Amino acid sequence: MDKKETIEGFYKLSRQEKIALLNLSNESKKLLYDALITEPKIAGIIDELSENTISHYSFPMGVAPNVWINNKLYTLPLVTEESSVVAAIAKAAKFWAAYGGFQATVLGTKKKGQVHFFWKGEKSLLINKFDALKDFILFRIRPYIRRMQKRGGGISNIELVDKTAILDNYYQLDVSFETLDAMGANFINSCLEDMAKSLRQFVSCDLEMDENLLEINMAILSNYTPNCRVKAWASIPIADLNRYGDQLNISNLASKLEHAVAIASIDVGRAVTHNKGIFNGIDAVALATGNDWRALEAGAHAYASRKGSYASLSKVAMNNTSFTIELEIPLAVGTVGGITNLHPLAKIAMEILGKPGAEELMQIMAVSGLAANLSALLALTTSGIQKGHMSMHLSNILRQLDATEEQKEAAKNFFKEKTISYSEVAEFLKSYS
Ligand code: MEV
Repeated sequence: MDKKETIEGFYKLSRQEKIALLNLSNESKKLLYDALITEPKIAGIIDELSENTISHYSFPMGVAPNVWINNKLYTLPLVTEESSVVAAIAKAAKFWAAYGGFQATVLGTKKKGQVHFFWKGEKSLLINKFDALKDFILFRIRPYIRRMQKRGGGISNIELVDKTAILDNYYQLDVSFETLDAMGANFINSCLEDMAKSLRQFVSCDLEMDENLLEINMAILSNYTPNCRVKAWASIPIADLNRYGDQLNISNLASKLEHAVAIASIDVGRAVTHNKGIFNGIDAVALATGNDWRALEAGAHAYASRKGSYASLSKVAMNNTSFTIELEIPLAVGTVGGITNLHPLAKIAMEILGKPGAEELMQIMAVSGLAANLSALLALTTSGIQKGHMSMHLSNILRQLDATEEQKEAAKNFFKEKTISYSEVAEFLKSYS
């Protein structure tokens, strides 16, 4: 951007002044105002979730009923812009409800943070004095963690990790945290920054070493949370699954599904799309409940690569009689603090779920991901995905083209068995009127 065009203090301007500065048509400007939430308290909360807010950008909030998890019935709140996701989850939930629904269990709740530092002094000094350093860190941090400790959380472990073989002089303090129902980002980052200060002080005061031998590079939580993991699964008798396949003119559906997951386990091209389908379900609950879906995505995609190549997050197990599909995934979520307790609709999403704690929400999200995955695989290996997608696509196009109810009806009949494109629908509407 030309230096002359740089705007100083944009954030200090009012909404009106900000919008006025944008190069927009009057119609677009009006739309920005029309889209604003009118209830002042809610509008104020949404405005302040971010900065330089000019309008409120809405997504649909829907629900998927009939979701049985560990013999408890849930309705899942889902926020997504992808039209087929809610229907996919609802369909899978209804189908699997007849077979006991979904099971889920939490495999761990530990979150992780790191102090990244470079140490040019003797390695042995660091290693030999590490226990003393750890004691010093834990002593200094007591006031910060007292409240979390009272509730049963806190710091579970601190390790010194030597990475000097791959990056000169590079070490980490690798710290494991228990943050209970909080996602814990602020707690973890505050603890880590205090630990970095302790490390600096320890080097100069206790080790009496030159401070310049130490470079603290950064102190930050890690979104890679393999020890904060959940497993969800669903089983069905193979004979029943194949009977369902027969109704769709697919014999041996169980084996087709097994093959579909096998492909996603060995081919990155398919694995990415397969896992994206899982995240259709997870992100929709994450968004609804005010959880950080970017963190969940980043952590889980890294987990999908843990064996050296990117692979499917779900897997299939079959024996002579039974078909099981399972999803094991790291999901570090929170149900207290953050947006969950601030965004009015996130609060309602939590109410719809019966106000679960973090562990229960991990299970719910994993099931939502597994349900989306199952529906996608069932569609892909039978009728194909476009059949379901196209009717939603057509509805969206008709809405964009301001079709009347009569035109919509006619278009739906006309395009029933046809491929849909924007121009063809536009052409149809012209000829219809
Ligand atoms: C589309 O959002 C998701 C799918 O592509 C997932 C998949 O292919 O498994 C249908």
